[in-house]
Amino acid sequence: MFEDFSLVPPDPILKLIVEHKNDSRTNKIDLGVGVFRDATGNTPIMEVVKEAEHYLLDTQQSKAYIGLAGDADFNSAMQNLILDQNITDDRFSTIQTAGGSTSLRVAIELMRKSSKDLTVWVSEPTWNNHIPILDSVGVKVAKYPYYDAVNNQLDFEKLIECLNKIPSGDVVLLHACCHNPTGMDPSPDQWKVITDIIVKRNIIPFIDNAYQGLANSLSEDAFAVKLMAGKVREMLIASSCSKNFGLYRDRAGTLTIVSENAKTNLHTRSHVLKIVRTMCSVPPDHGCAVVSHILNNDKLRNRWIIELNAVKNRLKEMRALLNQALNDRATEFDSSHLIKANGMFSYLGVTAEQVQEMKIKHGVYMEGAGRINVAGITKENVNILADAIVDVL
Ligand code: LMR
Repeated sequence: MFEDFSLVPPDPILKLIVEHKNDSRTNKIDLGVGVFRDATGNTPIMEVVKEAEHYLLDTQQSKAYIGLAGDADFNSAMQNLILDQNITDDRFSTIQTAGGSTSLRVAIELMRKSSKDLTVWVSEPTWNNHIPILDSVGVKVAKYPYYDAVNNQLDFEKLIECLNKIPSGDVVLLHACCHNPTGMDPSPDQWKVITDIIVKRNIIPFIDNAYQGLANSLSEDAFAVKLMAGKVREMLIASSCSKNFGLYRDRAGTLTIVSENAKTNLHTRSHVLKIVRTMCSVPPDHGCAVVSHILNNDKLRNRWIIELNAVKNRLKEMRALLNQALNDRATEFDSSHLIKANGMFSYLGVTAEQVQEMKIKHGVYMEGAGRINVAGITKENVNILADAIVDVL
């Protein structure tokens, strides 16, 4: 049955975990997969998460299935967080999913169900798992310009020019904040322009919301989502709790459906639940139960925001530190884009060959196009890193 299978190449981001682990050099640096690291290089469990886990251990009475849509308290707390408001409008509904990727997959299955001839536009570049997820459902993928790799900035003009040509009814996949892989986000004014075009052309926004709270405040990072939700007829939002709660392996996320009216929302939701049933039967509980306990308890919620701010601040500090270290080396290389970008990632501005050279010669690991996870930078390794960058440049 399987004898004709050829070998599938490993995922370019996930393979870096193994490569870095197997590298015996003591001064190796991991700027690969998107997980937060503290100043000692560890990916810690947030204190509030630990506390919520203890609470669950002590109080949870059953491991029976939760329903297809997950836990109602979790869903409404997440909906309020994602949309930065208390929603009472039944044009909106949120369901629990096994992390952000499952949410993306469920959403695309849903869209494909409604239109066999669907085109989804993704930013060029985008997260390296977006296109494989879209391909796995069999929708057409098109690309909109996003990043000006010569000047290391958002290519807003080209983005707008393209949006203005996208046919009505097509879907545009947007990153709510902390664009993965470039870290370059539209400003609030630019989001307003984008939203106006989306409304005018009747394009369906599909938002990947994986980094809320890692660029600015939770509310500021919800700006685009909130703006669009108030203006568009329909929209889907795939959210993840992997990064902002540090729950990577526990797979906590949501899918939010924004519909024209309550009736279409109810009907759409029923299709979503049918897809979930065939995909994973029911969503996993643990990570979402942790999030629900935190978000629905004022004291824990406030402490979570403090911990999240520390994560965000460390990312900003490490951006500044690398920029400074590169400036100190007085090369021609302009690294100022590092401090303009948001969240975990930036494009460093090096070639694929230079990425390979940094890995082989210096033990510095980053995704093939030169995406760095700034959380991998520390005060101890920043000079080694800056030297390696200058060397390959
Ligand atoms: C990343 O982009 O590195 C993360 O979202 C992890 C992943 O699954 O790719």
